[in-house]
Amino acid sequence: VDAAPTIDSAWAWFVGFVPPGWQPTLGIIAAVAILAWLLMNALKLVFELVRAWQDIRRKKQIESLPPQNPFPTKLPPPRVGIWNAEPKDPIRPKQVGDGGIPVITIANMKGGVGKTTLTANLAAYLDKQGKRVLLLDFDYQGSLSQTALAAANISKMGSAVDDLISGKKPIAAILEASQTLMPALPNSRILTCYYEFADAETYEMVRWLTGEAQDDLRFRLGRLLQEKVVSQQFDVVLIDAPPRFSTGTINALCASTHILIPTVLDQMSAEAVIYFSRDVAAMRSKLFPGLRLIGVVPTMVHQASEFTPRERGVVNHINQSLVAYWGQTKAVLEKAFIPRKNAIGDISGIGIGYIDAGLAKNTRLVREVFDRVGRVIYDQVK
Ligand SMILES: Nc1ncnc2c1ncn2[C@@H]1O[C@H](COP(=O)(O)OP(=O)(O)OP(=O)(O)O)[C@@H](O)[C@H]1O
Ligand SMILES: [Mg+2]
Repeated sequence: VDAAPTIDSAWAWFVGFVPPGWQPTLGIIAAVAILAWLLMNALKLVFELVRAWQDIRRKKQIESLPPQNPFPTKLPPPRVGIWNAEPKDPIRPKQVGDGGIPVITIANMKGGVGKTTLTANLAAYLDKQGKRVLLLDFDYQGSLSQTALAAANISKMGSAVDDLISGKKPIAAILEASQTLMPALPNSRILTCYYEFADAETYEMVRWLTGEAQDDLRFRLGRLLQEKVVSQQFDVVLIDAPPRFSTGTINALCASTHILIPTVLDQMSAEAVIYFSRDVAAMRSKLFPGLRLIGVVPTMVHQASEFTPRERGVVNHINQSLVAYWGQTKAVLEKAFIPRKNAIGDISGIGIGYIDAGLAKNTRLVREVFDRVGRVIYDQVK
């Protein structure tokens, strides 16, 4: 009767093929090969551990370095200001509590510091609080539009914000072209932006600079947002600005009650915040005297619970430097810091982390962060 093969019988069967004279040599070769394989894997593991340890040490070293090129706290005034001409008929946004709703611009001269990520997740937080949010994307790269539409499973994309600065259409018609963000953000709508906006902005700017435009380009958005239908349909407007003083950005500033400045806490990004604040301050008295800084929002910070010594140094430097431009001694919203997390970053362009960051535990993490950030920010607005 055939017994079921065991390892021993299989081995004996296999060895049966090898001539007896070769068996010791083959055995030695097999043993050496197995040993070499084990040794290689052990070495690989050791190398990986050493590298990981070195990475941690290097990161710690970099973090503990003092600021490299200390830069002046007070900058010389800006040299040219094409947007700075005296306005004849300025529009001042109604303040909150005075019949106005909060209009918050999220802006900074530096790119890639988390402006769009903050805007999208803040919108999701406010929407969840039952606030009806109107999102305006003024960056022709369309990241906010893409992110918000993707969260709501909508693929249609185009530039709807062109009409906000062309001064030709009434606000009711423009709002009709806004997109709902059902079911992700059931209370919110967005006016999207895409590459055709780049041309539209330049065209309007040139017409205004050459005196061809009849009205003041800078206040077109402000005029539209003052209309009653806006405060009837929405509780808050969030505007995602591009990293430059474009036609859209100037319109956003002139139409806003509040501004948020997100920044990474490194030396170069801090410099951008200071330059940006200087240039905004230079325009403020003429163009938007009522604009209030909610604060500078630290983004992509290294630790989940506190600043590293280096980040702390940058916070102090921003706080000191911004007194001259904003008048407040603690411009940095320390409590609204946003940690650097893959759960927050990986989703950008394909959805809003606050709504769905893939894994349930990632979504929970993003919500925890932006519930805190949203609360700190919105407390300053009410
Ligand atoms: N807290 C975070 N943790 C990890 N990654 C993040 C975080 N916030 C943003 N990112 C990532 O950093 C990149 C830049 O973010 P975001 O697009 O929000 O910046 P931005 O300031 O709007 O950029 P731009 O100036 O180009 O409009 C994105 O890839 C985003 O996913
Ligand atoms: Mg952006």
